Amino acid sequence: MDALEAIMTTRAIRRYSDEPVTDDEIATCLAAAQQAPSGGNVQPQQYVVARDQVRRQEIANWYRRAYDRYELTLPDGSAFKDAAAAESWNKTRAASRHLAENIQHAPAIVLFLQPVIPWEPADDLGPLDIGRLDASVYPAVQNFCVAARSLGIGTALTTVIRIYTAEVLDAFEVPRHPDGSVGYEIAACVPMGRPAGKFGVAPRKPAPKVTHWDTFGNRR
Ligand SMILES: Cc1cc2nc3c(=O)[nH]c(=O)nc-3n(C[C@H](O)[C@H](O)[C@H](O)COP(=O)(O)O)c2cc1C
Repeated sequence: MDALEAIMTTRAIRRYSDEPVTDDEIATCLAAAQQAPSGGNVQPQQYVVARDQVRRQEIANWYRRAYDRYELTLPDGSAFKDAAAAESWNKTRAASRHLAENIQHAPAIVLFLQPVIPWEPADDLGPLDIGRLDASVYPAVQNFCVAARSLGIGTALTTVIRIYTAEVLDAFEVPRHPDGSVGYEIAACVPMGRPAGKFGVAPRKPAPKVTHWDTFGNRR
């Protein structure tokens, strides 16, 4: 598949068919993830691939609890300016709720972990903002999702499970720091599976609306 077509049709897929995903396909997606750029080429991420049903259920239990709490904080459709925006929001909410109740049925769930390490350098004038460590992880996540798309596999980049980071990491025996604090963050929890529906180009703001040429405010 053409790279641009894969990118343009990679979107959140939260409903999966019963068709399998092979270990080889997952390995291909992970190899693509590994090719992503990272600051200083540190490649900070680790992947935990939950394939076993018990392991997927473990993630699902925490995901569901996290989502149940998060959902209560969300606005309903009436908060939106027009009917189209409200409908789109309600669709996303319904799909997100479906995922929260069914994530264990995804043939694989990949946790993208990033270590909790000192990252901000400093010189004599103080700390140097060179960007956060997660900026070196999300390119890998997106590579993974685009590679999956090219194989006909849908993914959803999710983060709500971070509400229960410590519990999930302990369940997967992810090492803690010697002082007992968590050794990793969950940058993303990515369920994957063959879509129950179809891939398509997701609605987005047109690029010209958010693009400034040479000076901010100068649009073409
Ligand atoms: C940083 C980040 C966190 C997200 N967390 C969740 C999540 O916890 N649960 C979920 O169902 N979707 C989550 N999503 C998916 C977004 O809702 C989705 O990408 C967005 O609505 C666009 O979907 P579309 O590409 O299908 O249009 C997350 C996406 C990003 C980029």
